[in-house]
Amino acid sequence: MKIACLGGGPAGLYFAISMKLRDAAHDITVFERNKPDDTFGWGVVLSNETFENLAKNDPLSAGEIRRHFAYWDDIAVHYRGQKIVSTGHGFSGIARKKLLQLLQQRARGLGIELRFETEVASAAELAKSRDLVVAADGLNSRTRNDFAAHFKPGVETRKNKFVWLGTHQKFDDAFTFIFEETEHGWIWAHAYQFDADTATFIVECADDTWQKFGFGAMSQEENCRACEKIFAKYLGGHRLMSNAAHVRGSAWLNFPRVLCETWSYENIVLMGDAAATAHFSVGSGTKLAMESAIAMANYLRSEPTMAAAFAKYEDARRTEVLRLQSAARNSLEWFEDVERYLHLDPVQFNYSLLTRSQRISHENLRLRDKKWLEGAEAWFQRLAGAGDNTVRRPMFAPFRLRDMRLKNRVVVSPMAQYKAIDGCPTDWHLVHYGERAKGGAGLVCIEMTCVSPEGRITPGCTGMYAPAHEAAWQRIVDFVHAETDAKICCQLGHSGAKGSTQLGWEEMDAPLKSGNWPVLAPSAVAWSPRNQVARAMTRADMDLVRDQFVASAETAARCNFDMLEIHCAHGYLLSSFITPLTNRRTDAYGGSLENRMRYPLEIFHAVRAVWPAEKPISVRISANDWVGADGIEPRDAVAISRLLQEAGVDVCDVSAGQTSIGAQPVYGRMFQTPFSDRIRNETGMATMAVGNIFEPDHVNSILMAGRADLVCLARPHLADPYWTLHAAAKLGDRGEAWPQPYYAGRDQLYRLSGGGEPTTTAV
Ligand SMILES: Cc1cc2nc3c(=O)[nH]c(=O)nc-3n(C[C@H](O)[C@H](O)[C@H](O)COP(=O)(O)OP(=O)(O)OC[C@H]3O[C@@H](n4cnc5c(N)ncnc54)[C@H](O)[C@@H]3O)c2cc1C
Ligand SMILES: Cc1cc2nc3c(=O)[nH]c(=O)nc-3n(C[C@H](O)[C@H](O)[C@H](O)COP(=O)(O)O)c2cc1C
Repeated sequence: MKIACLGGGPAGLYFAISMKLRDAAHDITVFERNKPDDTFGWGVVLSNETFENLAKNDPLSAGEIRRHFAYWDDIAVHYRGQKIVSTGHGFSGIARKKLLQLLQQRARGLGIELRFETEVASAAELAKSRDLVVAADGLNSRTRNDFAAHFKPGVETRKNKFVWLGTHQKFDDAFTFIFEETEHGWIWAHAYQFDADTATFIVECADDTWQKFGFGAMSQEENCRACEKIFAKYLGGHRLMSNAAHVRGSAWLNFPRVLCETWSYENIVLMGDAAATAHFSVGSGTKLAMESAIAMANYLRSEPTMAAAFAKYEDARRTEVLRLQSAARNSLEWFEDVERYLHLDPVQFNYSLLTRSQRISHENLRLRDKKWLEGAEAWFQRLAGAGDNTVRRPMFAPFRLRDMRLKNRVVVSPMAQYKAIDGCPTDWHLVHYGERAKGGAGLVCIEMTCVSPEGRITPGCTGMYAPAHEAAWQRIVDFVHAETDAKICCQLGHSGAKGSTQLGWEEMDAPLKSGNWPVLAPSAVAWSPRNQVARAMTRADMDLVRDQFVASAETAARCNFDMLEIHCAHGYLLSSFITPLTNRRTDAYGGSLENRMRYPLEIFHAVRAVWPAEKPISVRISANDWVGADGIEPRDAVAISRLLQEAGVDVCDVSAGQTSIGAQPVYGRMFQTPFSDRIRNETGMATMAVGNIFEPDHVNSILMAGRADLVCLARPHLADPYWTLHAAAKLGDRGEAWPQPYYAGRDQLYRLSGGGEPTTTAV
């Protein structure tokens, strides 16, 4: 094959090498506009896994690369006058210039023609005289732009500014993050050694800080001097250096996240940064480029046609790119939002930084640095009031809300059972909640329990509006208190326009086949075209419903529930006041967010007045309507939480969605946790996270990173009432109390789950 590689970066060179290794008869030319050692940037990072892939593909160049590696195992974080070091992270760095020189040398040795200082004006022209053109022309790929209509690139320019500098100061003991507070805001550096006497020093900050420093108007020299001043105490008198002479202006950039919809056109194929980028904070751009080169070379050999090879390449690499871009997005967003975390204690800040991409889990951190993690766990437990010598996972830390003390941080999320008769809980509820309370969760929240018959969602929903209800709930609460050390929370709600619908396992949210009752809502809006149009509430209706909430709260207090939750989420009555999607009122209860919150807050204040002062109240909200700017977005959820916090709500239970049939939620592991994180860290309010959290590792990392104070699990508790006790057994934690009659089963489980060392040093 006659092949042209457009671009002599890692992608172009390594593809040329990989092809030649597979068939020496290929005629390959690499075109590079710069001189051989004319390279921007400083060092690049490669993981052990990437290195193994390189070694399998070409042991010779891999050996040479390895000889020039700088290794380090530690990550050091300088923050608020402290340096926190954790180990076991295993990186290697190499000078970008060295990497390219080694690849150039290898390419020449294999008989590949390298044409430097040759600008290619058009990949299309080149393609006429070649069988294949690999467009590895980097981040600002001209080829990608020339064929934009075909490749359909999505380019998203991120908010922060960064500049890639170098220094002779040694950072050879650790990959180092330095966070500095200045008169213009926070600014930070990512520093790592890549050869005997040089380190990369990437400086990053928010746009606002960058503007205030006036970096944009400075020359590259002036920039270096300004950054030296900021980071002087870490540079030991060494200078910062720029080698971006080919870049005009100050050399500061905004990172562009690139992903093309299609990667090939006729005999031209995109590779490396030209096709897709990954943010530098996950250090994977060179990895992606070189691994894509290997994949393309393999498919060109294994597939019968070039088109088939392109299809396979794109398919396989896109999956990998999406995986990395998702981790990179978490990581870059963490840096963009870093001001949100700058109040955290250094231990928690470090944990949050290390787990920012969500690729490193809690137990994975233990494998890397057990001692550091145990120190962090001890810090968490100490702060939670568990005592000085306790080293246990965060999920087993106590938590206090007013006078209610929870033994751990696991919550059984409210889940409608649809098994009530005329609103009255039955033996089903006694057994169901009893089992979950025995199962080890610190807090069991009962299903949405309705304040009136019309306020029920379905005919099977529980109520708190008749003397029989009180007796039945009392029996359940008494059982939980007598037989377990779990606490029990009553969720009170009113269905609003989503009322008078079928049981959960029938047709969810669809009207009853017969016997529908009229429904109320802030405005005369139907939940869906199939549901009845609600009657817009008058002030008299609002007074009535408020009084029903108050009466139900009084009943719940007499039943001796430990906590109350007011359901203001999921499109039910109070939620439909909050979201502009269903609140069209023009009076004091519609319009601005303050107005839309007025009625839910009125209910809260009225309920708070009758609920025992020593017991907490939470409010569950939908932090995202998932419809974009027309509905509630996470930033509005912060404003909602501030109003709740000011009103005296003790904890915000942060759910999302179910407020519109047009919602387009983006699901994934822990997908609603970022909303809880944002609320907790921007307002300082206690939060509960919920939504697709199903592993102990998820719970521990959420808590340890300060993304929530409590973690609710719903479906996992349907599948396993003993979720917490089983998690403890699996993790080797022997500190959770089992019901006495079950001791024999506990002991057998402990034996069977074997290996796990006890992690409780004091309970
Ligand atoms: C601040 C920063 C830090 C980074 N840190 C890391 C890291 O630690 N680890 C890591 O793996 N990656 C890192 N990267 C990313 C990494 O540098 C790139 O992902 C990687 O270089 C991509 O390789 P490439 O071959 O696709 O593109 P490039 O390396 O950009 O190579 C493209 C080449 O094409 C040439 N070219 C372009 N147009 C033409 C033309 N018309 N004619 C001739 N030649 C042309 C260019 O001169 C260039 O040499 C970092 C990036 C940045 C910005
Ligand atoms: C069967 C079922 C019933 C539910 N009923 C309620 C409810 O009554 N009140 C409420 O706030 N959320 C309710 N939810 C939502 C859950 O509390 C939780 O927010 C959601 O299921 C996401 O958590 P998960 O991924 O752990 O299941 C219900 C969920 C399920 C699966």
